[in-house]
Amino acid sequence: MSNAFRKHWRLNPDVDFLNHGSFGATPIVVLETQRRWIELLERDPIEFLGPERSLLPKLDRVRDCIGGLVGADAADLAFVRNATEGVNAVLRSFPFSSGDEVVITNHGYNACNNAVRYAAERCGTGVSVAELPFPVESDAQVIEAVDATLSPKTRLLLIDHVTSPTGLVLPVKELIELAHRRGVRVMVDGAHAPGMVPVDLSQLDPDYYTANHHKWLCGPKTSGFLYVRRELQPEVHPTTISHGANSPGLGQTPFLAEFNWVGTYDPTPILSVPTAIEFLGGLKEGGLSQLMRDNHALVLAGRQVLLDAIDCGLPAPAEMLGSLASVPLPADRVGNGDAVKGLQHRLYHEHAIEVPIFLLNGTLPCLRISAQVYNSLEQYERLADVLRNLSGLSTTRFRRNA
Ligand SMILES: Cc1ncc(COP(=O)(O)O)c(C=O)c1O
Repeated sequence: MSNAFRKHWRLNPDVDFLNHGSFGATPIVVLETQRRWIELLERDPIEFLGPERSLLPKLDRVRDCIGGLVGADAADLAFVRNATEGVNAVLRSFPFSSGDEVVITNHGYNACNNAVRYAAERCGTGVSVAELPFPVESDAQVIEAVDATLSPKTRLLLIDHVTSPTGLVLPVKELIELAHRRGVRVMVDGAHAPGMVPVDLSQLDPDYYTANHHKWLCGPKTSGFLYVRRELQPEVHPTTISHGANSPGLGQTPFLAEFNWVGTYDPTPILSVPTAIEFLGGLKEGGLSQLMRDNHALVLAGRQVLLDAIDCGLPAPAEMLGSLASVPLPADRVGNGDAVKGLQHRLYHEHAIEVPIFLLNGTLPCLRISAQVYNSLEQYERLADVLRNLSGLSTTRFRRNA
């Protein structure tokens, strides 16, 4: 397989890796940077890691870099280990009252929806689910579904910038405006967004926004940020309460002080993110914007090859996608949850293709592809060939083997 960028990653050359979306994949140069940070840390642990010694200025430099990328004032960005942690911090700090309601969607990420249910249940708060269609035809359908689910009791809307199971880039700006008109605060789970689509928080104006650096920015695992609107920061606390709660010197603001230190942790994934952003931005002449456009074009081409193979219409318009795309599989031939897992297992173990297959909302079998710069169209063509052959099997044989 020819791909000029592939050499920058340590990915197993024997596997067609079509699942950048789950955990990302980190380029060699970024791993080397992280390694250097680890060496420096271990050479002088107290000096490096002590928040009152040299840790904070190092974190602040990364904060400035991320702020520039996502259009936020660096002072409004805290670091978290991942988006799940960011969502938990907000949900578990939220001043819910009994009788309030939170709105989530049926395309939301299970871990984050669990965090919502946990936080809500403890306060006697209800959870309502906006049912987004899939296949989907337009942003308007998403806006309508959310609009119909908000009620006078709704205090918080949790929406994804890019949905995990379906790869839809939701109309977050319109959803935020809609919620704000109704007096509802909005938390955006942007786990996939930075590095996949342009993110400008000054334009979007969410109340809370969290994202991963280890997915489409290709930073080391585990690193992400949490943005909180300035006036709401006093009520948002990390899920781990530590020294920052009574040591304001650990950050420029009490908010940053709390998130800068959540107990001993490894800051090297965070510290390596600027290298990842610089590296991705340098791969194509048009920088990160070009890379995102090219990944989008590749996912569309890959999706078309798969849709042709399984004879399926467009499940979502191109404008609603970034560099993830899901394709519904024929439920009558794929079968139930075990068969779906079996099919994914088989694609990996028998055909050396890493791609997630799952039941959307427990019913619709879907296969999700990712397109990162190291992927090539031939990889999706190979997957399509395999699927074509599999779907040529009779239903019973397919079920037994899957
Ligand atoms: C929309 C969304 N939110 C949250 C997450 C969780 O990411 P992490 O496990 O890094 O917290 C994911 C992971 O795929 C996701 O797709």
